[in-house]
Amino acid sequence: MTKIVIIGAGGRLGAALMREYKDKYNVAGFNHAQLDLSKLNDVREKLRPTNFDVLINAAAFTNVDLCETERDRAYLINAEAPALLANICRDKENRHLVVRVSWVFGPDRPSFVDAMIKQAQENENVDAIADKFSAPTYTLDVAQMLRQFFPGAAVAGIGDPGGHFRKTVVSSETGVNDPGYSAGDCGGILHFANAGECSWQEYAQWAVNCCREAGLPLKARIVGAFKLKDMADWVARRPVYSVLSTAKYTESTGMSPPTWRDAVADYITRFYSKK
Ligand SMILES: NC(=O)c1ccc[n+]([C@@H]2O[C@H](COP(=O)([O-])OP(=O)(O)OC[C@H]3O[C@@H](n4cnc5c(N)ncnc54)[C@H](OP(=O)(O)O)[C@@H]3O)[C@@H](O)[C@H]2O)c1
Repeated sequence: MTKIVIIGAGGRLGAALMREYKDKYNVAGFNHAQLDLSKLNDVREKLRPTNFDVLINAAAFTNVDLCETERDRAYLINAEAPALLANICRDKENRHLVVRVSWVFGPDRPSFVDAMIKQAQENENVDAIADKFSAPTYTLDVAQMLRQFFPGAAVAGIGDPGGHFRKTVVSSETGVNDPGYSAGDCGGILHFANAGECSWQEYAQWAVNCCREAGLPLKARIVGAFKLKDMADWVARRPVYSVLSTAKYTESTGMSPPTWRDAVADYITRFYSKK
């Protein structure tokens, strides 16, 4: 059975991966208290003797404003520690994949969408930034996408029982392999995000619509607009447009990610309707 080690197992993404993989693989997780990436010697000592087929680093210093003022710590956790992890993997086999994601949401740690729903439950007037764009990324979908790149994973065998993922018909002229191809040979940088793009205002409005559809009592109906320039207390500069192209994912797997609207609707149905 494929042995997976997940670092950052207590975070939004790491906890989701732990849960989604625990019945399918032999999974071991390290949360922050169990493995601190700022202690490079500890990381070396713990991971070098550990056997694994896949090492997933879902840990990071994710508070971007603090990263501006604590630059050395940010560099240590977000650059030096991942470099060490890459070296440990290279010594075992030398294959790696750097996965980029955007606007991550899921049930394991509240994010923007949960803050918006909470505000809409408590207030009649809710606003969100309308001039900043990206694609929300559902942690459960990341789990589905990522496992297609594990050693020996055959795309045709992965699928998605709920039919949430779409199989994209591709011709061999595009260089895409037939169904059954293992995406595990893919390397370098890969983007995972749900399909489509939106502003934070559109994202929040869709979440409000889905909650209303699911019968959740909300005070707010309409999400009003803020401008990015109104966010005076932000320290780090945020990109205005950070939609990631998932073309390489589709070329590698023959699959299209679910749309962000479907992903948010699924999240609200599964995790809010029963609250
Ligand atoms: N969330 C987003 O919108 C977003 C967008 C783009 C990219 N990403 C990337 O996606 C990945 C997962 O993010 P996420 O949303 O799951 O973030 P998250 O919920 O903040 O999870 C990060 C995890 O890393 C842990 N951590 C922090 N410093 C550590 C250290 N020195 N050693 C070990 N663990 C440490 C945190 O533990 P504590 O909570 O105990 O500190 C937390 O469990 C990260 O690489 C992030 O940069 C996220």
